[in-house]
Amino acid sequence: MKTTIAEVSKYVGQEVTIGAWLQNKRSSGKIAFLQLRDGTGFMQGVVVKADLGEEKFQEAKALTQESSLYVTGVIVEDDRSSFGYEMQISDFQIIQEASNYPITPKEHGTEFLMDHRHLWLRSRKQHAVMKVRNEIIRATYEFFNENGYVKIDSPILTGASAEGTTELFHTKYFDEDAYLSQSGQLYMEAAAMAFGKVFSFGPTFRAEKSKTRRHLIEFWMIEPEMAFMDHEDSLEVQEQYVSHVIQAVLANCKLDLEALGRDTSVLEKIKAPFPRISYDDAIDLLKEKGFEDIEWGEDFGAPHETAIAESYEKPVFITNYPTEIKAFYMKPDPNRSDVVLCADLIAPEGYGEIIGGSQRIDDLELMRQRYEEHDLTGDAYNWYLQLREYGSVPHSGFGLGLERTVAWISGVEHVRETIPFPRLLNRLYP
Ligand code: 4AD
Ligand code: MG
Repeated sequence: MKTTIAEVSKYVGQEVTIGAWLQNKRSSGKIAFLQLRDGTGFMQGVVVKADLGEEKFQEAKALTQESSLYVTGVIVEDDRSSFGYEMQISDFQIIQEASNYPITPKEHGTEFLMDHRHLWLRSRKQHAVMKVRNEIIRATYEFFNENGYVKIDSPILTGASAEGTTELFHTKYFDEDAYLSQSGQLYMEAAAMAFGKVFSFGPTFRAEKSKTRRHLIEFWMIEPEMAFMDHEDSLEVQEQYVSHVIQAVLANCKLDLEALGRDTSVLEKIKAPFPRISYDDAIDLLKEKGFEDIEWGEDFGAPHETAIAESYEKPVFITNYPTEIKAFYMKPDPNRSDVVLCADLIAPEGYGEIIGGSQRIDDLELMRQRYEEHDLTGDAYNWYLQLREYGSVPHSGFGLGLERTVAWISGVEHVRETIPFPRLLNRLYP
């Protein structure tokens, strides 16, 4: 019977065959322990000389790291490993013998590992991070599908910028100019007027010369947009969504979180509602915390976000930022036009902003005015104005950055480990 490591619990006491790679091994004169991985999981196989004979035992002892093989044996329960099972190997065949696998069990530098990303993905820790990423994506679809949202795909090639024109990747589109999408938001606004509640999930691109643990050039965003929902309604969706994702990862990625050494007690506390602090109050809090120079009207950097987050155990919404420092489409607070109806959600433990969102301007004249102020000229934006012309309604939306969310939940320091093949300032390989 051919099976996978993920399925072995169904075969306790039975003999099965698994296609696997050898991660590591240790052996004595009579017994060899093979650390096997097959993509679906990690399991130990035990080779006993007395069972397989001298020749086969020597072959097992000589197996090299990352050689591929078929292993056959009986599955037994094993309380000593958190996986809970191991294989008593009765036979194995080598598919391909690997020699001099570059990523040995010893420590390697980050640049070396990044140069070997195509192989590094096989390691226990990287495998765990990708499984957490996969679970976040699964739970995202689950949450929005269960709540009546329609998944809408936004274009990658676009003529319009959503988040400012300085960080656009330019390309030719035959005779026209085109850009790689910075955000699907503008298209999601059109979709919300057609489907009510929508979400997109796709790659976005920022030609940002930032070299920090939170910045990628190419990253993935989940962007819900809701007709007839105001800023407050949107914050509720956000806290429900993030709580759902956290609880799903806790329930379904136990072994992965353990492999990552993640302190899950801090994640267990992440349940809606989340605290809110206004930008005004955040400025005061920062002054109290020793950022004496910060002035009202300045944007927050990573140290500010981290300092604010330290005051809370849950993610915190910083609301109502100054109009000046936020995007052109955000709706001004009706009580004071110097701030907008927006919020950034700041993750705990220094992981920074994971969501940016706002209520959108629904008034045609005000949107026209913003176009002029932000120099958004040209036909590329006409369609967006028309959304305010034909049945405009209050609407809100937000974007959650997948990689920062993966980093936070997995407890990994840098976003480069949260996407299979990161695109960074100085990295397009592999
Ligand atoms: O705050 P941002 O720029 O918001 C938007 O793009 C809105 N149009 C979203 C919307 O309302 N539909 O980006 C949203 C999130 C950030 O909070 C952050 O998590 C992530 O995207 N993000 C990045 N992640 C990795 N690398 C980068 N360079 C990122 N820039 C933003
Ligand atoms: Mg933002």
